[in-house]
Amino acid sequence: MDKERGNPWAGFAGRAVIAPSLLACDFAHVGRQIDQVLDAGADVIHADVMDGHFVTNLSIGPPVVKSIREYTEAVLDVHIMVADPAYYIERFADVGADSVTFHIEATDDAAGLVGRLRACGLGVGVSVRPATPASALSEIIESVDLVLVMTVEPGYGGQAFMYDMLEKITAVRSMLRPEQRLQVDGGIDADTIVKCANAGADVFVAGSSIFGDDDVARAIGDLRRAVGCR
Ligand code: DX5
Ligand code: ZN
Repeated sequence: MDKERGNPWAGFAGRAVIAPSLLACDFAHVGRQIDQVLDAGADVIHADVMDGHFVTNLSIGPPVVKSIREYTEAVLDVHIMVADPAYYIERFADVGADSVTFHIEATDDAAGLVGRLRACGLGVGVSVRPATPASALSEIIESVDLVLVMTVEPGYGGQAFMYDMLEKITAVRSMLRPEQRLQVDGGIDADTIVKCANAGADVFVAGSSIFGDDDVARAIGDLRRAVGCR
């Protein structure tokens, strides 16, 4: 795929994107796990950053993203679940993120964050927690490359998909231009991916359903087949 500086999502125009979430991988063998999913046809690598404040869990930060960047040329999609996203924008740009998605709930200056991400030449994503309505995005939505609708409460992998988010996915899709991407994250498997795609999502993050499977290649194949040639 062509990695276009400024918006790596443009390289996937017109097709579904499968984004394995490293949160569910074996971090003792992260390089091997990345190879496995890329060999199996994964499109991007999704890295979940948690600070113990915006969510209670802790995960990885810039040093780990840096190591992953040095290991792979794949698009790195960094989802920052942090209380102070403003502190981290340039830090993740410096270690080689391709796209950064921040949470609308964590900032009162979303436009400022978008401007700084653009200045760094990164893809720009904005996310909403389950309790946050689509309308919270109205002022910013025009300026982003991707909207992430969380389909579980952020913080942990392995949670059950929240079916009541489907309505929000439909609402967000109606607010987007065709080239803007709509990502879902949480509880995505071969069944729920179809429901999300039908509601208008086109970028699918999956952790447990991929890395929790004995055969990650089969798991990715199942997800890909479920969304057909979209
Ligand atoms: C949750 C993270 C997800 C998580 C999804 O806060 O944003 O990316 O890894 O995990 P699964 O696919 O197991 O629900
Ligand atoms: Zn995520």
